[in-house]
Amino acid sequence: MSALKVCIVSSEAAPFAKTGGLADVAAALARHLGKKGHDVRLVMPLYQRVQQGKWKLEPVPGLQDVPITLGSKRTWFSVSTTELPDSKTRVWFVRCPELYDREGIYTQDQDEHLRFVLLNRAAIELCQWSKWAPDVFHVNDWHASLIPLYLRTVYGWDRMFQSTKTVLTLHNIGYQGIVGADKLHDLGFEHFANLLHQEHLREGKIGFLETGLLYATAVTTVSATYAEEIQTPELGMGLEGLLRARRDALVGIVNGVDYDVWDPRHDELIPARYSPKDLKGKRACRAALLAKYGLAAGPDAPVFGIVSRLTAQKGFELAAEALPVVLHRQDVRLVVLGSGEERYQNFFTSLQRSFPDKVAYATGYDEALSHSIEAGADLFLMPSRYEPCGLNQMYSLRYGTVPIVRRTGGLADTVQEWNGRTGAGTGFLFDEFKGEALLDAIARALGVWRDEQAWNRLVQNGMAQDFSWEKQVRQYEALYERLLGR
Ligand code: ADP
Ligand code: GLC
Repeated sequence: MSALKVCIVSSEAAPFAKTGGLADVAAALARHLGKKGHDVRLVMPLYQRVQQGKWKLEPVPGLQDVPITLGSKRTWFSVSTTELPDSKTRVWFVRCPELYDREGIYTQDQDEHLRFVLLNRAAIELCQWSKWAPDVFHVNDWHASLIPLYLRTVYGWDRMFQSTKTVLTLHNIGYQGIVGADKLHDLGFEHFANLLHQEHLREGKIGFLETGLLYATAVTTVSATYAEEIQTPELGMGLEGLLRARRDALVGIVNGVDYDVWDPRHDELIPARYSPKDLKGKRACRAALLAKYGLAAGPDAPVFGIVSRLTAQKGFELAAEALPVVLHRQDVRLVVLGSGEERYQNFFTSLQRSFPDKVAYATGYDEALSHSIEAGADLFLMPSRYEPCGLNQMYSLRYGTVPIVRRTGGLADTVQEWNGRTGAGTGFLFDEFKGEALLDAIARALGVWRDEQAWNRLVQNGMAQDFSWEKQVRQYEALYERLLGR
């Protein structure tokens, strides 16, 4: 296979700026395509937190103070680059202090759309200025999904992009980047309004994501099940019609796991290392996690873990129904790391108050603690309402931490129900979005927990799973090749 030029555009990439799985996936895809010899650029904004980080950022000559007009706003951007850790791939940061020098990655500011219009346009322009014609623009989520239409319109004159294909990956259609139709000029589409979704335009809105869906050469999402689910009214979030219309261009490719970062054999962020052959280290991680929060527990009390953004997507209403019951009746421990909507934060805060000897709740964003929970817990809870892929269940499997998940999206594709008769399976699943269904799955899990031999088998099954990017990246390569007719 000949080397391809791939420009990946993402609003987040680990370790530079991360709020969720998108950051892990964008970085891993860039790293692994690079490892396979492709010429990859990963383009993202230079947020304040990146600027303040320890990265050695080098200004790219010829790409400094480039003027750009976004509607009635005239501004400038510059490009700096650094190596993506553990790779030869370079990250290209778009620097524009006026738009990106803010505390968060995402904001509620009224120029939020301009922050991502700039990302889209700067990604294209930095290719132009450096005379680097990508074979593929691989754009992620709404933040980058205007690129396919920009290439046909605002930059349609540039023959450099004549054979460039675009791939739009949907990580989560719960976020669509919908702005008022009065932003047409800011987006640069005032002469191309006829190419936008007409019905929505008449209703006074423009969706970044739907525009990408209309014009990307191919659309992928992060699991096969989610690819099906989003074509239905239940989970299509209003895009189901468009997605059905483009079903021939839509494929589900389940995310990989970056085992360089997420593997207890060499994870430096956890108190002790371990492998399936020797789980002593896992016991040490468990003891350290409990000690950190002053939760005493003998080996018979299982430890549940949660690491999550606390949003409606993640299904914690069910936890609110089920967990108090379990905590009342059973000798279990629970360690939660997560922040987000106040109602869920309040729930976990009050749970901790009600069960101070059993529950620990940490807020904020804490990379090291997220690894320590994966390693120190026995069971991991993901009762998601919907889950495009989900990474934590796959991390859990590798850490010997048994996932209890709702059968939706990528959770359905990556966890298999334990079967006591055959000894096959890796976790526990439930279907109905009800507290009782979660309770039932937890009861099944605790039943197996009490059977040491069965539990060991279950843990070993999970640790043996292989979701490595080496495998998954081949599916993206095959897709690119197909689009390019090679
Ligand atoms: P999503 O992208 O919808 O948030 P994923 O399961 O794909 O869900 O990925 C979540 C990622 O974010 C995981 O790597 C998880 O460890 C991380 N994460 C979520 N919340 C926190 C937090 N508070 N601190 C540290 N890491 C977190
Ligand atoms: C999204 C989804 C999550 C997925 C991640 C990476 O944030 O919510 O399920 O794993 O993107 O693709």
